[in-house]
Amino acid sequence: MRYLVIGSGGREHAIAWRLMQDGSAKEVYAAPGNGGIEPDFRADIAESDFAGIAAFCADKKIDMVIVGPEAPLVGGMVDYLEKQKIPVFGPAKKAALLEGSKLFAKRIMEKYGIPTARHLDFAGKLPLLEYIQQEKNFPLVIKLDGLAAGKGVGIPESREEAIHFINNTVADDAGVFVEEFIGGEEASVLCISDGTNIIPFVAAQDHKRIYDGDRGPNTGGMGAYAPAPVITAERLAQVSEKILQPTVDGMRNEGIPFRGILYAGLMVSGDEIKVLEYNVRFGDPEAQVIFPLMNGKLGDLFQAALSGTLDRTDLSFKKNMQAITVVIASGGYPGDYAKGELISGIDKVDGNIIVFHAGTKRIHDAYYTNGGRVLDITAVGDTLREAKDKVYQVIDRISFNGAYYRKDIGYRALK
Ligand code: AMP
Ligand code: GLY
Repeated sequence: MRYLVIGSGGREHAIAWRLMQDGSAKEVYAAPGNGGIEPDFRADIAESDFAGIAAFCADKKIDMVIVGPEAPLVGGMVDYLEKQKIPVFGPAKKAALLEGSKLFAKRIMEKYGIPTARHLDFAGKLPLLEYIQQEKNFPLVIKLDGLAAGKGVGIPESREEAIHFINNTVADDAGVFVEEFIGGEEASVLCISDGTNIIPFVAAQDHKRIYDGDRGPNTGGMGAYAPAPVITAERLAQVSEKILQPTVDGMRNEGIPFRGILYAGLMVSGDEIKVLEYNVRFGDPEAQVIFPLMNGKLGDLFQAALSGTLDRTDLSFKKNMQAITVVIASGGYPGDYAKGELISGIDKVDGNIIVFHAGTKRIHDAYYTNGGRVLDITAVGDTLREAKDKVYQVIDRISFNGAYYRKDIGYRALK
């Protein structure tokens, strides 16, 4: 099989790596890819250039396209390629609204009894400001409806902070809502769906804040591990039965079957598990810790989802193994940061460690930084402690100007 992976992050490198490593693929191309993809297999085509992607598929005789990030999914790449009879894994445009519109996601959850935080809708900035003027309970959560690359959620601790957030981020006519703040521990549970059946993956936990101890601004994710012990076997069954399956059933009932990866961002508090958000794709960096633990062929799983046969497909994960990934980011991220810094030492980590590239660029035989999250240093061990030690023992061998990483990835599970 010849695959084309769309996207340029660590997640996409991990998808390509897994497809090659487990024997699913003869060749894996990536568009636009990153420095981790061999130059001959990188195509300089933007994620938004659907026609360019289709032409590339015809040229290289691609058997299946895997769409990594949300933007092309929400933009309708799957519908476009399907029309051209190119097999493609990922949800159609209407189904991708589960991530593309937080209000749509809320409506689905409320209609189908999927546990989530209570919310109130507002038609734009002024009515929201009026509401905030008389609100007494903080923190509360303010969410913008559309895709906002992680910047559309505010958790003000006071009325002043709320007003500041609204004035800075909420347009006059924005779709926006207020949600109750719920406490607890976050986890990501992903499943693959063929529109009817689901198969859940091992639960993972991301670390969204930039600094140790979960302080500072939100990022795309600074590290992850799996399985996350907060999601016990019992809770995983609960998430499958009460959240993932009803979501897929609800979407089918709406006439918009969901075929792809459904990611539930969860808040766990005792017996209660609520959905904070849906994503319609693999998590980044969650994928980087799920794939190393997976048995079987990733390509077979994609194929089964496309042919509607996940009910006859087995998926298992390595028993008593843990995976961890630590993101090395550019100094300044998630704010402004430099690009083009020379990266040294990637070849100085041993075969025990998987280095997934994210924001990197290869020029001849050298690697340079090319994004906020640069590399994902990943290891597997019999215990999380062992996997974590493997990563942190070698991570300083890799360096570039301004390199930054969190030193506490996995801390909740190791407490
Ligand atoms: P979202 O993009 O909806 O996942 O929100 C981004 C982050 O905001 C989540 O990962 C949580 O840390 C936090 N968050 C979102 N909704 C809530 C909520 N209702 N209560 C507490 N924290 C939340
Ligand atoms: N790691 C969070 C996400 O992929 O959305």
